[in-house]
Amino acid sequence: MPATDRKWWKEAIVYQIYPRSFQDSDGDGVGDLKGILSRLDYIKSLGITAVWLNPIYSSPNDDNGYDISDYRGIMREFGTMEDFDALLKGMHDRGIKLIMDLVVNHSSDEHEWFQQSRSSRTNPYRNYYHWWPAEKGTPPYRYSLFDVNHDAWAYDSLTNAYYLHYFSRKQPDLNWENPKVRQEVYDIMKFWADKGVDGFRLDAFQFAAKDTTFPEFPKGYEKNFTLYYAMQGNLHEYLKEMNREVFSKYDVMSVAEGAGNTFEDAHNLVDADRQELNMAYAFEGVDIAKPEGYSLLTFKEVFSRWDSSFAEKGWLSIFLANHDQARMVSRFGNDSPEFRAPSSKMLSTFIMTMRGTPYYYYGDELGMTNGDFQRIEEFRDVQTLNEYQYQKNQGADMARFLERKKFESRDNGRTPFQWDDSRHAGFTTGTPWIKVAPNYKTINAAAQEKDPNSCLNYFRELVKLRKNNLALVYGDYTLLDEANPNTYSYTRELDGKKFLILLNFTSTPASTNTGLDVSKARVVLGNYPQPSRDGKLQPYESVIYELP
Ligand code: GLC
Repeated sequence: MPATDRKWWKEAIVYQIYPRSFQDSDGDGVGDLKGILSRLDYIKSLGITAVWLNPIYSSPNDDNGYDISDYRGIMREFGTMEDFDALLKGMHDRGIKLIMDLVVNHSSDEHEWFQQSRSSRTNPYRNYYHWWPAEKGTPPYRYSLFDVNHDAWAYDSLTNAYYLHYFSRKQPDLNWENPKVRQEVYDIMKFWADKGVDGFRLDAFQFAAKDTTFPEFPKGYEKNFTLYYAMQGNLHEYLKEMNREVFSKYDVMSVAEGAGNTFEDAHNLVDADRQELNMAYAFEGVDIAKPEGYSLLTFKEVFSRWDSSFAEKGWLSIFLANHDQARMVSRFGNDSPEFRAPSSKMLSTFIMTMRGTPYYYYGDELGMTNGDFQRIEEFRDVQTLNEYQYQKNQGADMARFLERKKFESRDNGRTPFQWDDSRHAGFTTGTPWIKVAPNYKTINAAAQEKDPNSCLNYFRELVKLRKNNLALVYGDYTLLDEANPNTYSYTRELDGKKFLILLNFTSTPASTNTGLDVSKARVVLGNYPQPSRDGKLQPYESVIYELP
């Protein structure tokens, strides 16, 4: 199937909602399903066509729902199954599809399977997880992303054995070699697909298959752990089986989290003839921004390279933020009062005019910024908190660590949605589970509704434009003025329709030389009242032309 074959999930515009932080309906300080339900008209007004919800299943919340204790239940704080059914119906009534997060590399240690599994070595659930009997000695080192000691093996005295957890100790990895585990997962997926959900995002799934002989890995491998963790063993067999058992029977879309280490890995996940997943979600682009900054030349090179590798076959996601990243405008743009709005609009323009399915993170349509986390006690994220402990045990410079986390902690992207300038930004009447960003008094949806030039209204225009122009979805992408370190210029073209997009990524005026005459081109959308006519761009200017 060539990349230009039309599919609803290629034309979708996905809006990602972190349910914990979107809208609280009952005053407990935690966002919930009824809260989202009450905001469906707002969501619809954005024009987006699909919502990806972070996990809403029963969970003790060690990792905010990424540790699931019942895959068919709803997290108590989020509501009930009736609320879920109402939400799904409310979305479908409005023409919005729902994509669920599927977290099956691991479960919660409080899941019944794990409770059974750890209870004895002969329990029928023992093989649902990875156990290493202690009489074999200490298991070969495995790096854990979230563990306080970076150790992915946790010792459990009950059966004198270690269990494997690539993430936190409360997230034991499921054993995908066990056909019973796989069948359980397919049954869970069918349960939700039968309810009518429209897709699945496969959390951390590239790590699901392991070499269960657990060989020693070279010293220091953790610096590049995906080389050893991603795309191992029978992963592709499992995905083909999942496709046969589930995807082929429903009109659901599937997106992988992570895309391995090479283009070949990514294509092996999503090329249609392989009958595995629909689209890749690769991190190379979003990983570019560091606290020290980033180079636009690298940014252009990375996005162009990925685009060209997927021009004929396969399909990509386009995004600059999600719940595992700090805010887009703080990382890739400029969150100072002067440039926040233009740079945020410019970045949104980028996302909405690239080839691939855009995944747009809640709050970015307002230009929401990083939070204001000063002390370690203000952070909530298990990764940040456990890493703090780890660094402290290593005798690290903790002031420096905090400085870094203030910029890059995942909590920055998880602060409550800023609805209005009332207390707690209209998110809750109680005490929010995480600090609201103090700039909610000026940056909020209510204020932006009234302002025709707001980030919010600009985003709505972008969505409309993409929905009305297949050239922006499927059209060829051509990078122009490649060596320009300040501007990003490209065309998108399909069946004689040609758009030119100019983006200034800097806080000073910058020129781009595309070799194209825009004096007669139609300006379709721009983030300044007087858009550039001669390639001279104002700070963070973005402009989209239709070429004659
Ligand atoms: C994925 C999720 C992240 C979570 C981790 C463990 O990377 O996006 O939020 O912490 O998996 O489930």
